[in-house]
Amino acid sequence: MMNHLAWWQTAVFYQIYPHSFADGNGDGVGDLVGIIQKLDYLQDLGIDAIWLSPHYPSPRFDMGYDIADYTAVDPIYGTLDEFKQLLDGLHTRGMKLILDLVLNHTSDQHAWFQESRSSRDNPKRDWYIWRDGKDGAPPNNWYSIFGGPSWTYDETTDQYYYHFFFKEQPDLNWRNPDVQAAMFAAVRFWLDLGVDGFRLDAIESLFEHPDLPDHSGRYTDLDMFRTFQRDPDAPSFADTSRYLFTYQMRQPGIHELFQEIRALVDEYDNRVLVGETDDVAYHGQHNDELHLVFNFSLMHRSPITPNGIRANQQERLAALPAGAWPCNTLGNHDSPRAYSRFGDGQNDEAIARLALALMLTLRGTPFLYNGEEIGMGNWLPSDIATFRDNVSLNAYQTMVRLGTPPEEALAKAAASGRDQCRTPMQWDNAANAGFSPENVTPWLPVNPNYAAGVNVADQLANPDSLLNFYRRLLALRRQTSALIAGEYVPLHEEAEEYVAFLRKTAVSTLLVILNYSPNPLTLAFDVAETGKVLFSSEGEREGETAVLATLPLAPFEILLTEPNQ
Ligand code: NOJ
Repeated sequence: MMNHLAWWQTAVFYQIYPHSFADGNGDGVGDLVGIIQKLDYLQDLGIDAIWLSPHYPSPRFDMGYDIADYTAVDPIYGTLDEFKQLLDGLHTRGMKLILDLVLNHTSDQHAWFQESRSSRDNPKRDWYIWRDGKDGAPPNNWYSIFGGPSWTYDETTDQYYYHFFFKEQPDLNWRNPDVQAAMFAAVRFWLDLGVDGFRLDAIESLFEHPDLPDHSGRYTDLDMFRTFQRDPDAPSFADTSRYLFTYQMRQPGIHELFQEIRALVDEYDNRVLVGETDDVAYHGQHNDELHLVFNFSLMHRSPITPNGIRANQQERLAALPAGAWPCNTLGNHDSPRAYSRFGDGQNDEAIARLALALMLTLRGTPFLYNGEEIGMGNWLPSDIATFRDNVSLNAYQTMVRLGTPPEEALAKAAASGRDQCRTPMQWDNAANAGFSPENVTPWLPVNPNYAAGVNVADQLANPDSLLNFYRRLLALRRQTSALIAGEYVPLHEEAEEYVAFLRKTAVSTLLVILNYSPNPLTLAFDVAETGKVLFSSEGEREGETAVLATLPLAPFEILLTEPNQ
């Protein structure tokens, strides 16, 4: 049906956060065996590929994004044999697996860094970025994006090392060819095992300005902190990052490196690279860098409105280099859950259906985040002892230091932090939501709403559930080539209450209408006189012939119609 497209263009991806997906061995933490037990669930849901957040050995100061060994599995998640079983189980079911690849930094516990820090003349010294201080202070005024200076003094050798993230995540020196060779060997290790590609972490900070010049000083790390806390008086993220991180992000060298990684990956059949960036430039001028980059500009709109969607699509699709393929997402393990972020408190479930419909009907590869399919929302801890994300913990401590009363600091840190979207997956309505056995305490509290229907088992049993809506729409997308391959043609571009567009291939056309308003509407389209209703969030309309000149829509209705030519 769509032979000219690669698998990653037709696939729907689903991100698994391994710590929180399924606890197969009853220790309170998700693991590979747990994922293996859920493979039939994933197949039945109708997704095509998994992005697995880091599964490598790690002290988890940054929840696995601080890797201590790039070619192994963290024992808390299982063994390499279990990893192979997982990969095999996915492949047998026709699904793919991509891994997280953290190139920018390692853990400070990685043997490479341990060696590097051991002496100034260690052969791995130059694998990281070491510099002398200036008059007892760090080499320059750069900050870490997680707060505080980006340099940490190391007594053993009386020098500072550089880290864009936590001091437990020292940056690799990508100008050193040995670093590249070692990392490429790790990449080959997984490709040789048969993994289908990688999601590349933090790619914009891989290189630093070689002269390490001071930034302009226009903002401080506290300004940036307020930006992250969404303080109304704070400068915008674009401003703080532009001024503060001028010399730490988007430096020359990245494109060349990606061309090399792409060449390596292209030695294998059918692999994919997805970059954690919003910037379409990383597809490469000749489409020779990353296959996909995330449309974060859409995800970061809040709320998502019909005008916002159209503006985003217009800009985004026009900016893509020729031949590049779009990629849409609304949530991941770093951002508040889409269900809570876009919900209005009254129509959350209807809005969640619209969010999925948007992902599955826009042109491009969708990435879903585990738990979205049952409407998992944010969970806000009320006790600092349950915080696990060090970014939130830092935020709390910083606010208290700046004089914010502790309860207020706790609420703000919880609401801006990342634990809220990382709580255990809710499988059924037994204690611990079926994530862990009842006698175990899961690593993060389970959102108590599991008992009120926000769980897989209850929703599978209810034909009208959000989960079954996901299954229906995912199944339809798979069978509908216009939804996968079609061009996006916006209609009714002034409409404020709804978005309408065509997805159009040479042989088929689909009219997509998403009513973002709580009002019933009657719309008029002139693309054809009538159309066959292929899908409606109000199920009973399906199969109906609709008159397109007077097309009724229920509040928040999602309607997919095939115009009769
Ligand atoms: C982006 C990852 O998604 C996030 O979880 C992590 O903290 C940073 N990169 C650093 O690796």
